Amino acid sequence: MPNSVTEAEQFEKIRTKVFHGSETAVQELASIISDLIRQRQSDDRRVVLGLATGSTPVKLYQELIRLHREGGLSFQNVVTFNLDEYYGLSPDHPESYRHFMEVQLFRHVDLPPEQAHVPDGLVERDKVFEYCADYESQIEEAGGIDIQIVGIGRTGHIGFNEPGSGPDSRTRMVALDRLTRRDAARDFRGEANVPAYAITMGIGTILQGRQILLLGWGESKALILRAAIEGPETDAVPASFLQRHPDCGCYIDQAAALSLGLLASAKNLSSDSGTRIIPRTPLLLFWWRPARPMV
Ligand code: GLP
Repeated sequence: MPNSVTEAEQFEKIRTKVFHGSETAVQELASIISDLIRQRQSDDRRVVLGLATGSTPVKLYQELIRLHREGGLSFQNVVTFNLDEYYGLSPDHPESYRHFMEVQLFRHVDLPPEQAHVPDGLVERDKVFEYCADYESQIEEAGGIDIQIVGIGRTGHIGFNEPGSGPDSRTRMVALDRLTRRDAARDFRGEANVPAYAITMGIGTILQGRQILLLGWGESKALILRAAIEGPETDAVPASFLQRHPDCGCYIDQAAALSLGLLASAKNLSSDSGTRIIPRTPLLLFWWRPARPMV
């Protein structure tokens, strides 16, 4: 076995970096992004970023805003495409992902508004197919995504690619999983108010990004991250398809890493990092539920 293979890598199918806390992780993530932005600026070229929503990327966006304010990082040469949007929500709905992006990032940096793309949740139902194909074309015309940020939902979704989503899936309308809707219930003041459908980039679209950064914080993500990082590639855990990407890195904190084999095996981590070693929980095969029919 080559010396460069660490004990942890015997388990991982996605290269994984475990940080003490998300604060240090986002510094590294922000410098990967800002280095590319600056390098492209000096070559007079654009950078295309694939952006995610949810609580996970918020600290990363705060760090990028800090670099803009204090480090002179400009977003003039940046083009962004968001992963997804709830179907039926207007851009100014407080829970829409367009609104989220405005509040968490866009309005705080000098990104030209016409260069920021978030799927439109109000496209008429009979225009959705065409709209999604056009979203894909716009990504291609922009030169393809250089860095794609993704979080993970507890169903194993990336974007809104719920269990049952195939590796070749493209931007499309999907039905949201019950667990996803339950997780969003607090933001919408009740599960009944959570939209049933969304528009999301597909797994195939995400896999076309040149570099993918998968983020995860907290113990609630530990089991699903283990399934994605160490389990088999399966549409029961759509994030597991990231295993087939040549440049996907997973950045997680210690709590999110608690179920990973690397922590259970690499006992040396415990002495210098204060990592709690807990027994590995059995890898549950996530139940497969057929996708619900479209509207
Ligand atoms: C939503 C988003 C996903 C995100 C997930 C996790 O479902 N569509 O892109 O990864 O939430 O959310 P959080 O980061 O709040 O845990």
